[in-house]
Amino acid sequence: MRRITLTRFLIEAQRQQGAQNSDLRLLIEVVARACKAISVAIGKGSLGGVLGDAGSDNVQGEAQKKLDVLSNEILLEANEWGGHLAGMASEEMELPHAIPTEYPKGEYLLLFDPLDGSSNIDVNISVGTIFSVLKCANAGCDLHDHDFMQKGTQQVAAGYTVYGPSTLLVLTLGNGVHCFTLDRELGSFVLTKENLSIPEDTREFAINMSNQRFWEKPVQRYVDELLQGKEGPRGKDFNMRWVASMVADVHRILTRGGLFMYPLDSKTVAQGGKLRLMYEANPMAFIVEQAGGAATTGRERILDLQPTGLHQRVPVVLGSKNEVERVTRYHLEGS
Ligand code: AHG
Ligand code: MN
Ligand code: MN
Ligand code: MN
Repeated sequence: MRRITLTRFLIEAQRQQGAQNSDLRLLIEVVARACKAISVAIGKGSLGGVLGDAGSDNVQGEAQKKLDVLSNEILLEANEWGGHLAGMASEEMELPHAIPTEYPKGEYLLLFDPLDGSSNIDVNISVGTIFSVLKCANAGCDLHDHDFMQKGTQQVAAGYTVYGPSTLLVLTLGNGVHCFTLDRELGSFVLTKENLSIPEDTREFAINMSNQRFWEKPVQRYVDELLQGKEGPRGKDFNMRWVASMVADVHRILTRGGLFMYPLDSKTVAQGGKLRLMYEANPMAFIVEQAGGAATTGRERILDLQPTGLHQRVPVVLGSKNEVERVTRYHLEGS
């Protein structure tokens, strides 16, 4: 069997597309290397002394886990000296991270959720890392928040890793979505699935049902119809899954279809939603669209949103196209 490592995949993609330059290739390789280090730390669990709270809060007002802080540091340290980045932004940092002056700067911006699903870490449930890559219009100059304020359609790459029973890297460079599995002995990511495709229809949905009473009418109606199953207007039974790690829930959808929602609710409406546009919604929307699915806020396509803040939050509805379209239609009809 031809074994295609991430390195080989990126070199071949660069040859074929011509568009992808060697800095982008380096960037992806460095992110993947950092994710391997995060995977090793997670794998050690209690033995590595990495579980539990860090004793600090992040800019989102969340209590940071030790692994939130460690994963953030691993990604920063790995990416700052290579000369491929103009700067970085993270869920765990209030301000963008400028490249230290002793290192050269590149033309890309890297944004990440260093550890997604971190409330699951102490329970030994899958967590992940999500990342998004943009070009910096003003590379070489001082970096500001507004350099990152680009629509999701401007992303040149996005991906996530899932630290689960195996460690996976799912990547798009804007030409399909590809999945790599970490060979733990060799320490390399190996291509295990090309051109992931999300079926247009599904019988599976993912939502935190405990928020039901806080949702808006259209989501109430949609979920209510699903729960009626065969006897209801949908004429079929639906199954529900909620891991509470977005990477794991989205990866299930990339694997076998489904609908994922973290809709607007009265608890999070003041902040605009729960999930973060720049570190979670945009990269996942890019990946999902590249796999033939759809991603909206319930009202608009996520990738078309003009960001207004580094830590902006948005409602998220993504996955199998026909279900996303239905939920969006219910919102637009206002029912
Ligand atoms: P993070 O751990 O990066 O802060 O993200 C957690 C997110 C996301 O992964 C998940 O879908 C959602 O929060 C779960 O929220 P609930 O705990 O409200 O279900
Ligand atoms: Mn968090
Ligand atoms: Mn997250
Ligand atoms: Mn996180």
